[in-house]
Amino acid sequence: MRILVTGAAGFIGSHTALALLTAGHEVVSFDNYSNSSQESLARVEKLAGESLERVDGDLRDFSALESLLKSGSFDVVVHFAGLKAVGESVEKPLLYYENNVSGTINLLRAMQLAACRKLVFSSSATVYGEVEMNPILESFPLSAVNPYGATKLMIEDICRDLAKSEAGWNIALLRYFNPVGAHESGEIGEDPIGIPNNLMPFVMQTAVGRHKQVNIYGNDYPTPDGTGVRDYIHVVDLANAHSRAVEKIDSFAGAEAVNLGTGQGSSVFELLAAASKAVGTEIPHSIAARRPGDAAAVWADAELAKKKLGWTAERDLDAMCRDHWRWQSKNPNGFRTESEC
Ligand code: NAD
Ligand code: UFG
Repeated sequence: MRILVTGAAGFIGSHTALALLTAGHEVVSFDNYSNSSQESLARVEKLAGESLERVDGDLRDFSALESLLKSGSFDVVVHFAGLKAVGESVEKPLLYYENNVSGTINLLRAMQLAACRKLVFSSSATVYGEVEMNPILESFPLSAVNPYGATKLMIEDICRDLAKSEAGWNIALLRYFNPVGAHESGEIGEDPIGIPNNLMPFVMQTAVGRHKQVNIYGNDYPTPDGTGVRDYIHVVDLANAHSRAVEKIDSFAGAEAVNLGTGQGSSVFELLAAASKAVGTEIPHSIAARRPGDAAAVWADAELAKKKLGWTAERDLDAMCRDHWRWQSKNPNGFRTESEC
């Protein structure tokens, strides 16, 4: 198939582009590199032994999308492009609504004009809002707790309304839990700009000496060891799920949501122990106050993904830490060289 991948240079996009190329698909990347580097695409090509087509462009530029979709003859669009930092979304809500929501409306309009109605969209477990019960089923109520989450929920709603308004749309709304890890080669991985908010990149950057210690945000949660529990999922498993979604896109009637998680929760202490094992030394840490807005525990019910995509996550927390560490230790400054930092 010929597939347009927006945000292909980013963390999940690059791993998915590699999975799609490896599965024999043609991949066209569309990215503005606002949170990524072209080097990741070069490495994807090297790993795949295949090239992809690069289009440098911005979702906010409707005419660029219109001409790309009209001339591109795409079978499916896989849409990763978006901004994803929760804190930044609180400070700059208009940037997030414009980039993520208006950008996606542009993409959907361009797809509609080109009669390309098959879409795989990066949603997030954030659409479940304040979590009260686990495991989380796709049928649980949805709400937004910050502007970033609101953009994901709005885009889901827009997709559902669009699919109701016009026959022929097949839209997979994939709700990721906590993506971590890296390709086992250590050549591509997550390259956060600035200080990461998320646990795994912060842990791994601490292991290479970029931070003094990991702050554990609370050890008094109602969880087995008192620290927060999340459903971490290896990015290669996630990428393979996208490959499946592309292949099975016709089975998505209108717009349908599917959780992508392992179905198992791990605590901050468990992740730190697995990371220390992978790194080979204890990672310095200390207990800090709870982070406002954090849930005690969040994990997916992963049954629908098994049923609909024939997919289950295969890699455990040890593999996630081992592969993330290989990437971090081989690329302590991510895709940047020492002089670019
Ligand atoms: P990322 O920042 O690494 O990748 C996003 C890519 O989109 C980047 O290459 C960026 O340059 C590009 N981009 C952003 N705005 C653009 C625009 N206006 N035009 C063109 N390109 C643009 O993020 P990621 O972790 O790979 O996440 C991919 C998607 O998955 C995002 O939509 C994110 O919200 C969603 N998601 C991520 C997580 C996570 O924890 N990583 C969890 C749930 C959902
Ligand atoms: N944590 C720490 N120390 C840190 C960072 C995180 O103890 O330095 C803890 C958090 O309190 C939480 C766990 O580690 O218990 C995971 O935190 P992350 O920030 O890695 O992930 P979250 O589950 O909080 O957030 C992620 C995405 C959000 C998304 C949310 C809900 O980053 O974009 O899942 O789906 F909104």
